[in-house]
Amino acid sequence: MIDWNKIREEFPVCKKMVYLNPAGGSPVSMSAATEAKRFYDEMLEHGDTYFDTWLQRTEEIRTRLADFIHAEREEIGFTTNTSHGMNLVAHFLKDKGSVLTMRDEFPSTTFPWLNQKTPVYFAEPENYAYSIETIKKSLTPEIKILVTSYVQYKTGFRQDLETLGNFCRENNLIFVVNATQALGIFPVDVKKYHIDFLMFTGLKWATAGYGIGGLYVNKKWLSSENFPFAGWRSVKTPGNMNNQELDLKNEASVIESGCPHFPNVFALGGALALLNRIGAENITNRVLELNKLIERKLRSLQLDVIVQKEDKHRSGIIIAKMQNPKPIVDELMKRNIFVSARGEGIRVSASFFNNEKEIETFHHELQNIMNSK
Ligand SMILES: Cc1ncc(COP(=O)(O)O)c(C=O)c1O
Repeated sequence: MIDWNKIREEFPVCKKMVYLNPAGGSPVSMSAATEAKRFYDEMLEHGDTYFDTWLQRTEEIRTRLADFIHAEREEIGFTTNTSHGMNLVAHFLKDKGSVLTMRDEFPSTTFPWLNQKTPVYFAEPENYAYSIETIKKSLTPEIKILVTSYVQYKTGFRQDLETLGNFCRENNLIFVVNATQALGIFPVDVKKYHIDFLMFTGLKWATAGYGIGGLYVNKKWLSSENFPFAGWRSVKTPGNMNNQELDLKNEASVIESGCPHFPNVFALGGALALLNRIGAENITNRVLELNKLIERKLRSLQLDVIVQKEDKHRSGIIIAKMQNPKPIVDELMKRNIFVSARGEGIRVSASFFNNEKEIETFHHELQNIMNSK
């Protein structure tokens, strides 16, 4: 039995406000912040003499992230955010064919491809969802790459990655997943889902803060072609500092071309350690439970909502449809309740650090605001 109140102590912001916006930016956990601080304390006291220790710690966290998504250590690279990861993948797959993606995607999913003039086609949602049939209908012979978010940021629709992965395999499509709105709270099994490339930022549900992202590259891609950037740490033996022999690593860490962004990597390490302590299934169940409670509360106010009925398509996000959401979002903020105006209304997102009482407070204050309009 998980003591969710105890877990809330990892997120001191919960004492100050009702934080219903991890889909925008989550607070970091104490566990994450402690690891980042430890780095600065060490650097304050010991300067750069800990470099080898930090490199070793980075490798431990690489393994931790790999285990978290069922990948292998050498398939993991550290980036700074989702856009960084998607750009690397778009460059890598530059000449592989056209892209099919979803109409609702966040720009970080589409801009890297558009910027390099890869033809991009869009599947259209039905009731904010993308079924396999819809995706199948949108396929043309020139499309070779399927790019999708695991969870859509402005509708909360969650793809069934296992079914989609099988579909990609059957249709010889390269499968690229932006896991930003899911990683940390929903299962990711890159092997089971036949994912070729996956990226995310630490800022949202992963609770690791700014400046850290992850990129998974299926190892079948690691020996064939090169990523378009290289620096002194991209080679097999960086210590040699041979400036003429470019012997690139056959590992995803080839993308970490220079010195690592240690404090951010360590924050991710601390964040993952907490998520592991709580347990993936417990987290998923808790997030779904709170999402359903928010749905009931919004419906009780006669609000139209965007949310998926089936658990496998439900996420941590729900939208209360509204013509002009911004003044209400601002009014909620004055009452210490943090949500955001996204898509067709107010986006309410709740993670495992939220609780029923907060949702009750949100419901109560929203009702007051609506009654006063
Ligand atoms: C699906 C998705 N991808 C990416 C991002 C953010 O991109 P980046 O990590 O490059 O800042 C967001 C932010 O809302 C998002 O919802």
